[in-house]
Amino acid sequence: MNPFNGRDLLSLQEWSVEDIERVLELAADLKQKFRIGVTTDYLKNKTFFMLFYASSTRTRNSFEAALTQLGGHAHYLNPKTMRAGDPGAPEAIADTAKVLSRYGHGIGIRIYFPQYGEGEKVIREYAKHASIPVVSMESDVYHPCQALADLMTIREKFKETKHLKYVQAWGYSPDALRVCAVPSSNILLMPRFGMDVTYVRPPEFTLHPDIIQQAKVNAETHGGSFTETDNLEEAIEDADIIYMRQHCTLDYGKHGPEKEQQIIDKYSDWTLTSDLLRLAKKSAVVMHCLPVDRDHEIASDVLDGPQSIVYDEAENRLHVQKAVLSLVM
Ligand code: CP
Repeated sequence: MNPFNGRDLLSLQEWSVEDIERVLELAADLKQKFRIGVTTDYLKNKTFFMLFYASSTRTRNSFEAALTQLGGHAHYLNPKTMRAGDPGAPEAIADTAKVLSRYGHGIGIRIYFPQYGEGEKVIREYAKHASIPVVSMESDVYHPCQALADLMTIREKFKETKHLKYVQAWGYSPDALRVCAVPSSNILLMPRFGMDVTYVRPPEFTLHPDIIQQAKVNAETHGGSFTETDNLEEAIEDADIIYMRQHCTLDYGKHGPEKEQQIIDKYSDWTLTSDLLRLAKKSAVVMHCLPVDRDHEIASDVLDGPQSIVYDEAENRLHVQKAVLSLVM
């Protein structure tokens, strides 16, 4: 009996360290089999519905490729062309979830609303009514598949994660408004694997207090540590891992894009340059979930340099998602 069968993946907080270890073990096996061309049709004739309320390159294509490689099929669904997205009388989430549950074996959803937490509520509403597993493909709060790929990538580079200095840094991007899902997911996950996490951001950009509080609890429980600061240079000093990414303020949905832009523009020097990177350990790696705003969040010479592992992270999305879907579907 597979204990994962039928489980949702909405956040990694709901999966134990042992569960995550099982996913990473299977992901490594699937990665090796993919490399040498071994067939892994574990989901033969199974269907995964992917509802994208928001745009995507990596998530859509890695999930779609995952289903093909596992012998199943992924439906790309744009809710605007579904009854659920009918602007006049949108079909209830409960009805959409129940109907899709009669047709297939899993549902993935990506959704964010301007107001922090509203997208997460929608995903949980689908999960409540679906009788097949629901996988978060990113809400405004969590991006569990990205966090899994990031952890897998770190473990490939370092083997031992205990007391690695992991820096989650806010980065400047004038034109992008990124939700808080990646930094939130990663400051929660990395202390559970013994890392010493420093979260550095300008004063206005702290993550939700519940996330910060839980990150501290995770650190205390699992032997890592958690520090929050607004001093970028001090944070980068002696870092093993620097994950530089912009995220919006929690008030974005209330004050709107114009005010948000004014706040963002106060911090136009928050770019990971090669000078800044020199403060980290020589062996330090640079991470970003992509899409990256080149020369704003991270300088191009750093992104394209030997310390960048951003494409390894992107690749590992495929392998961890294949592992998760094989286990839950
Ligand atoms: N990292 C990530 O989720 O990329 P996409 O937005 O392209 O899916």
